[in-house]
Amino acid sequence: MSVTPADVAVSLEHVHRTYGGDQPVVALDDVSAVFTRGTATAVMGPSGSGKSTLLHCAAGLDRPDSGRVRIGRTDLSSMSEKRLTELRRGRVGFVFQAFNLVGALNVEQNIMLPSRLSGRRPDPAWVDEVIGRVGLGDRLRHRPAQLSGGQQQRVAIARALVTRPEVIFCDEPTGALDTRTAAGVLALLRSAVDQSGQTVVMVTHDPVAASYADRVMVLADGRIVRDMPQPGAERIAGHLALLGRRQPVATREG
Ligand SMILES: Nc1ncnc2c1ncn2[C@@H]1O[C@H](COP(=O)(O)OP(=O)(O)OP(=O)(O)O)[C@@H](O)[C@H]1O
Ligand SMILES: [Mg+2]
Repeated sequence: MSVTPADVAVSLEHVHRTYGGDQPVVALDDVSAVFTRGTATAVMGPSGSGKSTLLHCAAGLDRPDSGRVRIGRTDLSSMSEKRLTELRRGRVGFVFQAFNLVGALNVEQNIMLPSRLSGRRPDPAWVDEVIGRVGLGDRLRHRPAQLSGGQQQRVAIARALVTRPEVIFCDEPTGALDTRTAAGVLALLRSAVDQSGQTVVMVTHDPVAASYADRVMVLADGRIVRDMPQPGAERIAGHLALLGRRQPVATREG
């Protein structure tokens, strides 16, 4: 099936990102990928393989050293910081690996922050729905420091969903959640895709979480080493196990 420009939610073309210092680290090594509108992709791979860097570059939070990133038809490469900030507020939701909540604001204020910054008031019924689905209705006046890790993660997820962004990037959104809460969050992300046509790109180490996606992309050493339609949790686990076994061999050869 061919992808027309209108179908493209996010694209990366030959993206390179090296972190400097005495011993430079190549975090992304010539990564090209298209994320189609209305789909969910799981990004997997070992620790340090470049997953968070990929998400940050795709969301306009970090700039590649070379290559091109587009959100829809908008090319981020030549944008000023100011315009990039506006684009992120309006069109992108992000759940960070470290939740990045504002400590001085309570749960409700954190959730509403992107809407306040972008000056767009979301539908109150939708806000209630999101808050209910992440199970935070009785915590709205609490500050992040008064919440558990899993609760903070749910605040971050609600914050990313409430403005109904075109693309939702999540970095291990269920890493700190129990199985049942994780299932609720994954169902919420899935419904953003199926009911609202939003696009989800989610980093996860969990084959069960990845099985909610339509597609699984595996990174190793800053490169995409597998890109497949989601084959089911069991097979995903099998692929990751194989990757884990191959690595020492690759290291010896390298
Ligand atoms: N700000 C930075 N400065 C220097 N090196 C960095 C920086 N951020 C990431 N790196 C390096 O880039 C590589 C890719 O990091 P990245 O955070 O993208 O990995 P990851 O796949 O998200 O890992 P994890 O599963 O542990 O979160 C790693 O080797 C990391 O040490
Ligand atoms: Mg990471």
